[in-house]
Amino acid sequence: MLVSSKEMLNKARQNNYAIAAFNIHNLETLKATVEAAEEERAPLILQTTPGTCEYAGIDYLVAMAHTASNKADIPIALHLDHGNSLDLAIKCIDAGYTSVMIDGSMLPFNENVSLVKQVVEYAHKKQVQVEAELGHISGVEENISSSHEVLTDPKEAAEFVNRTGVDSLAIAVGTAHGVYKGKPEIHFDIIQNIRQLVNVPLVLHGCSGVPEEDVKQAIKCGICKINIATDIKIAFADELKKFFVSQPDETDPRKYFKPAIKAVKDVVKSKIHMAESYNKA
Ligand code: 13P
Ligand code: ZN
Ligand code: NA
Repeated sequence: MLVSSKEMLNKARQNNYAIAAFNIHNLETLKATVEAAEEERAPLILQTTPGTCEYAGIDYLVAMAHTASNKADIPIALHLDHGNSLDLAIKCIDAGYTSVMIDGSMLPFNENVSLVKQVVEYAHKKQVQVEAELGHISGVEENISSSHEVLTDPKEAAEFVNRTGVDSLAIAVGTAHGVYKGKPEIHFDIIQNIRQLVNVPLVLHGCSGVPEEDVKQAIKCGICKINIATDIKIAFADELKKFFVSQPDETDPRKYFKPAIKAVKDVVKSKIHMAESYNKA
């Protein structure tokens, strides 16, 4: 059974590690992620963006994640990542997602609050957890490129959480979606300030490409969930490309996906080690 992310995130918060959340796109990346987490005995959050919901179908995604959670003996939550409307959040909740993000980070503060409140009201009736974003994380996510980062204001974060009743909060502290040109400059002091003022788990987006020591430091400062998308996409695509360069005539997906699946598993395991969520299931 798919579980809520509440317990795993709160345990991580109390014990100073993070849950690694992975964006999956198909059966291959989902199974690879689940197998890696199971081998590491790590609680897992599988997440899909609105684009993936459209590509794979919400019902297919729920069915695959549900099947995986029944077979694996680790807690698995299914989460909507960067949900862009109340309507989509409701669809995912009704279909069986156990957690949803509603991303109102482009809206003015009060509009973000009222959108999140509506999602929280619906979600909590069904024991579904809600993540929101305050400030704005830049970078490239699903064809949408956003260059203007707005760092999260700690006092506003406290007011936002109190007014919305949201279960976890994504904060903008220097990470960005996609690959980095230089080294990201993470504002650890802001994470610490928010951690002191806000009593829900804090989420760090854009973790692909962030040096391991920086992610670990962010977790020490109060991050409880790290989001990984790009590094999985790169690993999967790179192995496929390599495969077809060396074996251009192969047509059997059971063969050409094999090294790509292995590469995703390796990435997932290394992120779980970075989060220190192994042996916590
Ligand atoms: P990356 O693609 O940089 O890993 O960011 C992932 C993310 O934040 C998903 O919400
Ligand atoms: Zn994100
Ligand atoms: Na990134």
